[in-house]
Amino acid sequence: MATYHVRDIKLADRGRSKIQWAQMQMPVLQKIKKRFEETKPLVGIRIAACLHVTTETANLMMALKAGGADIHLCASNPLSTQDDVAASIVHDLGISTFAIKGEDKDTYYSHIVSALSIKPHITLDDGADLVFTLHKEMKELIGDVLGGTEETTTGVIRLKAMAKNGELRYPIIAVNDAYTKYLFDNRYGTGQSTIDGIIRATNRLLAGSVFVVCGYGWCGRGVASRAKGLGARVIVTEVSPLKALEALMDGFEVMPIKDASKIGDIFVTVTGNINVISEDCFIAMKDGAIVCNTGHFNVEIDIEKLKKLAKSTRMIRDYVEEYTLDDGRRVYLLAEGRLVNLAAAEGHPSAVMDMSFANQALSVEYIVKNYKNLKNMVYKVPDTIDNEIASLKLSSMGIKIDSLTDEQTKYLSSWEYGT
Ligand code: ADE
Repeated sequence: MATYHVRDIKLADRGRSKIQWAQMQMPVLQKIKKRFEETKPLVGIRIAACLHVTTETANLMMALKAGGADIHLCASNPLSTQDDVAASIVHDLGISTFAIKGEDKDTYYSHIVSALSIKPHITLDDGADLVFTLHKEMKELIGDVLGGTEETTTGVIRLKAMAKNGELRYPIIAVNDAYTKYLFDNRYGTGQSTIDGIIRATNRLLAGSVFVVCGYGWCGRGVASRAKGLGARVIVTEVSPLKALEALMDGFEVMPIKDASKIGDIFVTVTGNINVISEDCFIAMKDGAIVCNTGHFNVEIDIEKLKKLAKSTRMIRDYVEEYTLDDGRRVYLLAEGRLVNLAAAEGHPSAVMDMSFANQALSVEYIVKNYKNLKNMVYKVPDTIDNEIASLKLSSMGIKIDSLTDEQTKYLSSWEYGT
């Protein structure tokens, strides 16, 4: 029997049809699910998963369950859960789920503890809160764990820091660092879904607006290019000279956040760092400036400072909080500074999550087969898995590519041929 804490189990019907809709865009994961059904590589494996509870995650849960796994699922962000999907995961898949959109911090962590109560062999994490809780508060369970996966850049950075300090007590596969993950999910997924979240929350026209992207990693690149595609005048802020140069040569304006603050209409943080938009920025902003975050944690905008500066606040529409400063200027914060793409929209489209979650499913299988050879480190997804996913995705899209001739293969491994 599934145990659960979801908003309303009666929402399952609506969740189910949305999960089916997503499934149509996830052919690679479907193929893996079919193989898992036939070969059952995960029989006897208990999984604790801490992921955004979305239609795409539901499809990943189905694939893992088809492989024979027993799963507990909780949310990896207090505001990203799709309540109808959570209900369907419990009702239709029989998977114990602990996730409610808008849950407070205590409930969020109590849900992680509930997910861990399965006594996992494998952990799936998105941001490393579950791994952290396991290492800090439920150490007694670590002995059973064979390995884990991590979905996102922020989580990988955290786990690498744990490994460097000798604190990581089991191996982790960094799904985020697979080419078939970050080149597509981080760039096109974050790019599209962030713009989607901003538009759903505000209904603003981006064409002609001054759109400031803080951070030019793969996610920032995606957000900047999509905003430009909609006609915004895009400014990039960076701390890395290399990334700043790249942004400049990609055709964006580059300047310090202090200068961008004076002219931006819409600000998006996507750096993975704290207090990127701080007091000085709010003080410099134009009346009506919109501020949001699409990095993993709600730490990139200094909301406490904004609260202190404001003489009043109100929710002006869903996900849009108005802060009125002493001089009457208004700053609008979207989705409490949490991931705007998952809070105000539905996260990355299914077609990119297809590849990210194919990496998750195959990495879980890899851990089960290879855990004895893995150390307490953060590993890349093996290239064979990465290449297999790219091939499957291409063929699902009906795209054929060339292959090397024997002569070309020989040339690439030779050194005699020159000018
Ligand atoms: N991360 C970003 N978008 C997501 C989605 N649609 N499902 C699960 N995790 C996500």
